[in-house]
Amino acid sequence: MAFLLPSTAAGQTADFNIIPRPQQVNVSNDAPFTPNAKTVICLGTNSQNMKRNANMLASYIEQATGIRPAIGKGKSGAAIVLTIDKTIANAEGYKLDADAKQIRIAGASAAGVFYGIQTLRKSLPLVNGKASKVSIPAVHIADAPRFAYRGTHLDVSRHFVTADSVRQFIDMLALHNINRFHWHLTDDQGWRIEIKKYPRLTSVGSKRSGTIIGFNSMVDDQREYGGFYTQDQAREIVEYARQRYITVIPEIDMPGHMKAALAAYPELGCTGGPYEVGHRWGIYLDVLCLGNEKIYAFCEDVLKELSDIFPSEFVHIGGDETPTERWAECPKCQAVAKEHGLTAKTLQGYFTNRMEQFLNQNGKRIIGWDEILEGDINQSATIMSWRGTANGEKAAEKGHDVIMSPTTYCYFDFCQTDTSTLYEPSPRDGFISVEKVYGYEPLAEGMSENAKSHILGVQANVWTEYLTCPQAVEYYSLPRMSALSEVQWSSAPKDFGAFKQRLTRMTSLFKLCGYTYAHHLWPEEMISPWEDN
Ligand code: ACM
Ligand code: ZN
Repeated sequence: MAFLLPSTAAGQTADFNIIPRPQQVNVSNDAPFTPNAKTVICLGTNSQNMKRNANMLASYIEQATGIRPAIGKGKSGAAIVLTIDKTIANAEGYKLDADAKQIRIAGASAAGVFYGIQTLRKSLPLVNGKASKVSIPAVHIADAPRFAYRGTHLDVSRHFVTADSVRQFIDMLALHNINRFHWHLTDDQGWRIEIKKYPRLTSVGSKRSGTIIGFNSMVDDQREYGGFYTQDQAREIVEYARQRYITVIPEIDMPGHMKAALAAYPELGCTGGPYEVGHRWGIYLDVLCLGNEKIYAFCEDVLKELSDIFPSEFVHIGGDETPTERWAECPKCQAVAKEHGLTAKTLQGYFTNRMEQFLNQNGKRIIGWDEILEGDINQSATIMSWRGTANGEKAAEKGHDVIMSPTTYCYFDFCQTDTSTLYEPSPRDGFISVEKVYGYEPLAEGMSENAKSHILGVQANVWTEYLTCPQAVEYYSLPRMSALSEVQWSSAPKDFGAFKQRLTRMTSLFKLCGYTYAHHLWPEEMISPWEDN
């Protein structure tokens, strides 16, 4: 439900102090642009993407002013003109120029135009249709992202959210110029994507018979919990994201974090089971049996169906937190290790290379969590650095492409304050404040220029062991996602005070969109435990 703000005075001026901060904004004292009932949005290029862009802009203007501009042709008269300008160097860059007669948004691509539209949207008075007369100061904005990969991850295994909630999450990404949605679809506690060749993955693997309460307390709620996305639903989400210039990167976490798949197909494990879909958090010893050819066929079949749903060049194959105890005791795993001159400790690299080869043959590239570096893997594998930043920096020096996603700055399931669990439902140890996220510099001093060129970008991860509903996902993501977006997009020197002012304005948009967000930066807005609120 949209949160209606009180009506304000009729005249309202646009404010370009937005998030993420554009690279260059020059406001002049020339006469402003004033949209009215006759304002038309004109398209220089009549593609589907540009028409959709125009419709989104019309909705945003209507949301702020109550007036929905028509979409037309031509470039004369009072108009907002959307065009493609191939002279803009960055593929996602744009220019926005406003004067008394026109606003012109020119993008290197339809995506660039979309980001220009987001900038205009965020600069409008955020008063839900109450700004009857808006004035947009004369301005020249030239903007482009610092990093090409600007990601956020969402774990839907530990706690499932509906397809509608995934779409709302994608809306939050679009608001922050984020262009990659890393969808963590499988884990020990639930398999969440339909695979037609293996129906038990969802009929069995998507359900658990109970969930531990808190951080591995001894209390199990004994309530059945489940959910999954059909392939059609996943395709709809891919299309919804594409319309917002966001690529969905699916993750099947393998060969560990596979307990849900083992419960469905116990022959894929070293002991043969029986196995149960996980109730508790952490790491399970039971993983795929790398000595059994069947698991390679299984993984390839799954990745093949996945590739059909997700056009993304990248596929995330997980690879984190994989214990080797079962492989050390399994005759089949021992035989394969011996054949390749490996040990149980180094067997995972053999698996990773086979999966990479298969995906490369199908036109895809792999991303893996930084543990995959412990095997003898190919330089072509992209590394997601989560156990701090050093693994990512080392990988980049060795020539791997790297996405920085360290627990120290980018784990949004950590609390946002050090006042323990006050106002925060997660019992995760440690905290990451908005200021900490904002202060993250992904290109560390001391890295070579060549290594820096391998840092594709930055991503935040939203793990959901303790985030049991979509509102909690929003609360843990906002406003840290706003800080993240400045790390991903902006190059200007950091100034937390100025950022906080922009962020305070941005919360009006969160309210307008009905998003739940954390209020630690605005303690006066928090619920007091002592008063009857
Ligand atoms: C991870 O947080 N286990 C990648
Ligand atoms: Zn085995």
